[in-house]
Amino acid sequence: MTVMHSLYRESGKVEIDPNACSQCGACARICPTEVLAMDNGEICVHPDRSFGCIACGHCMMVCPNKAVTVTGRGISPEDLLPMPAPENTAGADELAALMQTRRSVRRFSDRPVDGEVLDRIVEMAATAPMGIPPWDVGCVTIRTRQEVKKVAKEVIKGYQGFLKIFKPWLLTIMRPFMGKAKYDMFAHFIRPLAQSYVQGHRQGRDLLFYDAPAVLIFHHSPYADPPDAMIACTYAMLAAESLHLGTTMIGGAPPIIQRNKSLCQTLGIPDANTPSIALIIGHPATKFQHTIQRRFTSVSNMSQ
Ligand SMILES: Cc1cc2nc3c(=O)[nH]c(=O)nc-3n(C[C@H](O)[C@H](O)[C@H](O)COP(=O)(O)O)c2cc1C
Repeated sequence: MTVMHSLYRESGKVEIDPNACSQCGACARICPTEVLAMDNGEICVHPDRSFGCIACGHCMMVCPNKAVTVTGRGISPEDLLPMPAPENTAGADELAALMQTRRSVRRFSDRPVDGEVLDRIVEMAATAPMGIPPWDVGCVTIRTRQEVKKVAKEVIKGYQGFLKIFKPWLLTIMRPFMGKAKYDMFAHFIRPLAQSYVQGHRQGRDLLFYDAPAVLIFHHSPYADPPDAMIACTYAMLAAESLHLGTTMIGGAPPIIQRNKSLCQTLGIPDANTPSIALIIGHPATKFQHTIQRRFTSVSNMSQ
């Protein structure tokens, strides 16, 4: 069994250097797929167990003797990085402060986002967890206001097409086939939203990307867990916040981008991939004076 991926058809390959291995068993204890196991006090590789090696690299990362190498599925020992110094890692207070400080930003100054800063955000976002390694998520970087405007214009065209087809009378006819929740979403949220995007555009207002100077678009392959792209975007959001940039996730653009094949091509989104979420990024033009208490709808304990 191999976990499918848009680029890799093979399992990872684990090798143990018997001369370097101290048989401590750390790699076997951490292997999530039981490909590595201690048999009679000796580390053994069982390539066919479970999913096979998914190339998460955990065995290489815990080995104190650099005796383990994992290759395949886009990973190699060259990917190992030194651990950040403990004094450089954020504690709970710093992380909570970053999370509380972050708010969605929809007004940006004229200042562009530095290309290197954008690259750093993407690099930081790539540390996010994914359903099963390696990433099968891609990220498009749109680096200038002019490019953002071009994409916004195309998306607005898509919404104009949507409004021409999904007239209120058609939605009413389709209601029994769509079900109540979907009808309510289309008739009372998506259609009015499309109208406001189009109307705003006519008046020279960008209600889609809010005239942001940069946008990231996260897309995923059909083999990826769909939430992977959302998790990556969440990490990008926090990364941007840590670099004093403002962001907002934009769910309004991806479904239209997905239906515009030539735009997908221009953006480098593979045919089979689904754009999940966009993130507008820029230097905030407004400053929040307070943060706000947010609550989940419910937090419950399992009943005994
Ligand atoms: C999945 C997702 C999609 C979103 N899509 C949009 C969008 O299309 N346009 C927009 O203005 N805000 C969008 N938002 C931002 C939310 O509206 C925002 O989180 C909300 O205003 C709460 O603000 P806060 O992030 O400051 O707490 C989206 C947020 C998420 C998580």
